[in-house]
Amino acid sequence: MSVQAAIRRKTAPDIRARKSGAPIVMLTSYHAHTAALVDRHCDAILVGDSLGNVMHGFETTVPVTLDMMILQGRAVMRGSAQALVVVDMPFGSYEASKEQAFHSAVRVMKETQCGAVKLEGGVRMAETVAFLTERGIPVMGHVGLTPQSINTIGSFRAQGRDEGSWEPIENDAMAVAEAGAFSVVLEAVAEPLARKITQEIVIPTIGIGASSACDGQVLVLEDMLGLSPRTPKFVRRYGDLGPAIDAAVEAYATDVRARTFPGPEHVYPLKKTV
Ligand code: KIV
Repeated sequence: MSVQAAIRRKTAPDIRARKSGAPIVMLTSYHAHTAALVDRHCDAILVGDSLGNVMHGFETTVPVTLDMMILQGRAVMRGSAQALVVVDMPFGSYEASKEQAFHSAVRVMKETQCGAVKLEGGVRMAETVAFLTERGIPVMGHVGLTPQSINTIGSFRAQGRDEGSWEPIENDAMAVAEAGAFSVVLEAVAEPLARKITQEIVIPTIGIGASSACDGQVLVLEDMLGLSPRTPKFVRRYGDLGPAIDAAVEAYATDVRARTFPGPEHVYPLKKTV
């Protein structure tokens, strides 16, 4: 009997093959239950280090650790079945050397069994991207706005809004593509530049705040569900779950206080004796 699962998960090469094809659909997830919902509709799931903001309330992604990423990566793998799961490498786990990046990425791959990792940086990370991909670790790049660098860049600002600033961003995207990344996230990149990069490089671009010119899109799930306290300009809200959750919790609190929950249908009576 074959031990192969009935549904084969999408792989990094599957996503790579979608260049200039049907748009790649990606969302973040950090939990088994949301992963199961996202998995039904998406090609890829990102276990983003945005979990530092969303789950833990940190102001930036800088405090996120490798152990935090691995724990949530495992949850998302358990919850999903067909999408490619990409786990973010957190700040400090890969920048020191290509060897450090390899050891961290191997932990992620072995302990979560995800299909790929993502790391931030272009030209400066190209050698590392090549080192990982040559050793069996598929890498998604991430250029444009790179939130892990917040303490050196100073603010979360859109990138490439004047043509004079395009060259380093183009070079970054080109560098990760040439180093062997299977796709690259373009974050908060002006539309004409995102279009140009998408036309120039051979791997799919996945945009977040980078226009429909990209080969695919990714959003933070909680942002598009209306669960985040602040909605960035580039997010379309596809749900408004905040007020729905608030109303449900309020109704529960009212029922508990009035002793109308639990009702008779929620209790365990004694077994009938014969
Ligand atoms: O951590 C994350 O969710 C990300 C997306 C913003 C692309 O990196």
